Amino acid sequence: MALSFAQDIRPLIRDSDVECMQDYGLDLSDLGEVRMHSQSIYDRLANKTMPEDGPWSDANIAKFKEWMDDGMLE
Ligand code: HEM
Repeated sequence: MALSFAQDIRPLIRDSDVECMQDYGLDLSDLGEVRMHSQSIYDRLANKTMPEDGPWSDANIAKFKEWMDDGMLE
């Protein structure tokens, strides 16, 4: 089954991530914005500079990439 934002990606994003990044003009709770900025989001996840208080596991980073490759489904 292809991955979806609502079921597979959104649950990985904490409320504190959404709040912190809204201050920088990026709403991680918004599918359209995450699609538009998916490459820079992936780059920051993959180089482990975001979230700045604790990087994602390699498995979750790979999941984000897979969601991108699947066509960033809702
Ligand atoms: C899943 C979680 C997160 C993702 C995917 C994420 C993603 C990003 C991205 C893509 C940028 C670059 C924005 C740009 O190019 O304009 C960025 C910048 C930034 N983020 Fe996050 N972020 C996350 C969590 C957080 C949290 C929890 C904090 C605060 C505690 C935070 C603080 C910042 C700050 C201060 C910047 C600007 C400075 C910099 O570029 O390092 N982020 N983030």
